[in-house]
Amino acid sequence: MYEDLKNKVVVITGSSKGIGAEMAIRFAEEGSKVVINYNANEAAARQVLETITNKGGEAIGVAANVSDENAIAHLAENAISTFGGFDIWINNAGMEHPYPTHEMSLKAWQEVIDINLTGYFIGSKQALKHFLKEQKKGVIINMSSVHQQIPWPLFAHYAASKGGVKLLTESTAMEYAPNGIRINAIAPGAINTPINQEKLTDPQTKKELEEMIPLGYIAEPKDIANIAVWLASNQASYVTGITLFADGGMTLYPSFQAGKG
Ligand code: BGC
Repeated sequence: MYEDLKNKVVVITGSSKGIGAEMAIRFAEEGSKVVINYNANEAAARQVLETITNKGGEAIGVAANVSDENAIAHLAENAISTFGGFDIWINNAGMEHPYPTHEMSLKAWQEVIDINLTGYFIGSKQALKHFLKEQKKGVIINMSSVHQQIPWPLFAHYAASKGGVKLLTESTAMEYAPNGIRINAIAPGAINTPINQEKLTDPQTKKELEEMIPLGYIAEPKDIANIAVWLASNQASYVTGITLFADGGMTLYPSFQAGKG
């Protein structure tokens, strides 16, 4: 338990499912008030909300597309009017679809950049404006990926967006450190979430994926949520501008295992 997270208000984009939903539930367990955000899947958001309120937690759900600046301003306003403000903002909503780069439509490229990178800028801007206005030492967490470091064929748009998230995190961390605002990223590897369901239901692709992970298994969303609460808490008060990789060693060049090379 992180005592200082009690009664803090956290806004989490894309928190109706996957890692976002698990973070919403985990923060609520710490006594934080949670603003759940979803784009289209209201039923899933309601389920997260019910999970939280059934355990005695406080939460609201707000629909907003992260690439729409007005909608995200409305999301922030909702958090402020309901809970009197917010302390932690987590940019989490993301998407991916494979395309050979020479066949990728501009629309497919832009959609991923809009959600995964521009959406993080829009969210960061709302959070920073609020923290500065209230002179609050707020926290921003950007959910990145191992693909901010590992190149990913067929996913050039996704990898480019995550490479962008790395430097968005570092640049904003430096810019707002004098205000006491901490900004960090978490880079998960392969996690058991809806985004990966196709790969994980096929035993062959699942096995191939596991072979790329030195720890040998695909982690659960709660393994990432556990990191997010720590990073948002005062226990991490001296940590800013980092990317914390939670990938079972995926970024350690696993093909070199057993002394190959
Ligand atoms: C992607 C997953 C992928 C993992 C490792 C993540 O960022 O969302 O689909 O399995 O990286 O490649």
